[in-house]
Amino acid sequence: MNVNDMSVIERLANSVVVPVVVLDKAEDAIPTAKAMYAGGIDTMEITFRTACAPEAIKAVAENCPEVLVGAGTVLNLEQCKKAIEMGAKFIVSPGYSEEVVSWCVENEIPVLPGCVTPTEIMLALNHGLNLIKFFPANVYGGLNAMKNLSAPFVGIKFVPTGGVNASNIKEYIDAPFIHAVGGSWVCAKADINAGNWDKITQLCKEARQAAKGE
Ligand code: 3PG
Repeated sequence: MNVNDMSVIERLANSVVVPVVVLDKAEDAIPTAKAMYAGGIDTMEITFRTACAPEAIKAVAENCPEVLVGAGTVLNLEQCKKAIEMGAKFIVSPGYSEEVVSWCVENEIPVLPGCVTPTEIMLALNHGLNLIKFFPANVYGGLNAMKNLSAPFVGIKFVPTGGVNASNIKEYIDAPFIHAVGGSWVCAKADINAGNWDKITQLCKEARQAAKGE
């Protein structure tokens, strides 16, 4: 299927890896997006961990139509609204925020709240969400935890982040309850700050190949 015919949720799966991007300077947003795109990854989550996040999201949304840009580390409704105003196409939170989830659902904006317990998953399900972030995956039981959670919550799909990398991505991606994985290893802050664009492209290629077992 052509990416233009895919929903946001389908595009996240198609990307396999949804990079978690931390930018110190908004001007690094476009070269980072292009470097990852050259490596076969056409989605990115620009995190609100740094002050330039809104400007960085806007730069990618306006200049890189081939890349699906979302906002990550969205902690409250104010950041969420700002991200959407700047052109973010999806919202990711490390935890479950009722105000963020309710607003996104009302406004038909794809949202992935972070849920690691049955109770949190039930809050997401109450809003009709069946795709959630699972963070930090390596701390909250990894694949085994998600496997067990997917038994009562039939149809739930996870995007695990935290400790996912090229050496374990295949295990994650092969599990039927995994939609895509997230992570920062393909676009480390140090590489972005140093302008190591070719390295970022290479890490993205390697991540996708590792996911396929190549
Ligand atoms: C996140 O917010 O999802 C994590 O910081 C990503 O985890 P990683 O840095 O281990 O890839």
